[in-house]
Amino acid sequence: MEKKYSTIDWENLTFSFRETDRMYISNCKQGEEWEIGNMQDFQNLSISPAAGVLNYGQGLFEGMKAYRAIDGSVVLFRPKENAKRMQMGARRLGMPEVPEDIFIDAVIRSVQENSRWIPPAGKGTLYIRPLLMGSGPILGVSPAPEYTFLVYVSPVGPYFKGGLKPTSLKISENHHRAAPGGSGGVKAIGNYAPGMVPSKNAKSEGFAEIIYLDAVNHKYIEEVGAANFFCIKNGVISTPELTGTILGGITRLSIIELARSKGYEVREEKIDVEYALTADECFCAGTAAVVSSIGSIKHGDIVVEFCNGGVGEITRDIYDSLVSIQNRKSEDVFGWMMEIDV
Ligand code: PLP
Ligand code: COI
Repeated sequence: MEKKYSTIDWENLTFSFRETDRMYISNCKQGEEWEIGNMQDFQNLSISPAAGVLNYGQGLFEGMKAYRAIDGSVVLFRPKENAKRMQMGARRLGMPEVPEDIFIDAVIRSVQENSRWIPPAGKGTLYIRPLLMGSGPILGVSPAPEYTFLVYVSPVGPYFKGGLKPTSLKISENHHRAAPGGSGGVKAIGNYAPGMVPSKNAKSEGFAEIIYLDAVNHKYIEEVGAANFFCIKNGVISTPELTGTILGGITRLSIIELARSKGYEVREEKIDVEYALTADECFCAGTAAVVSSIGSIKHGDIVVEFCNGGVGEITRDIYDSLVSIQNRKSEDVFGWMMEIDV
């Protein structure tokens, strides 16, 4: 079926789903090896109503991007880290781990067979969504007998409307994202639905997203809806330490390495919300969010503005340094980028 490619307005891409041409799919029975997967036309799945993923949320996803670099090449950013994170999640949710070579091959083939959907350099990226789920039927609450791993892609623009333009965020006073011992540290699909109503409510009040505090003390910053949190005070960059309730973002990890290499002091620590509210700059970071400057935070009745609503100097430096590596404007000294033949 011909997809509506000709109607794409590359200048005004948003972070929304657009059906593309092809998808990767592979299956595995519990206790057996993953079969070699296939590329097929993008299509609906046929799945048992008793599938583990539909009944008990036994599923994981990943989020990655293929970038059209300024030299015209197509590159992935640290794809092995996504493979590793999905394996960690699979162990937590009792699913068979997808071997790294199968994961990377699936991602590469999905990009190659949808290459016409990769936005021109600087206009957007091809978002890659690997999914791993318990697709076999199960009535008792236990791991499904069969699993599906698939990859689909969609061209996207900025996650936050306005790109780097500072966003207004709100601390969630009544909801938490994850509790110790739960699944917050992995990209479980079930971590996201409970955040939808709090996030929708915040958006209806004019905020771009919410910031979650920890579920035990309601005191320490955890993360922003679907991105990690950073704040900067007196030139020191701080981000919440990974204690199992926060998703270990690959962008987060990369910013820590990048900022240290540029001579900044970076601390992974508990960040008391009161400390963050006195910071000089705040931003959040993730694959979809990239580096998004935070212009203000509302906590209870208090609203604190950062950098007079502008983008902080260090935030901009981190953004520029990261994006320049991703679009190959600057040298990939860390060896993070993987080029794909398209
Ligand atoms: N935190 C959550 C809850 C997320 O969903 C994401 C997005 O993947 C991130 C943080 C950032 O992770 P990454 O940088 O790997 O995209
Ligand atoms: C990503 O940054 O890739 C994410 O997974 C965020 C997503 C929930 C929109």
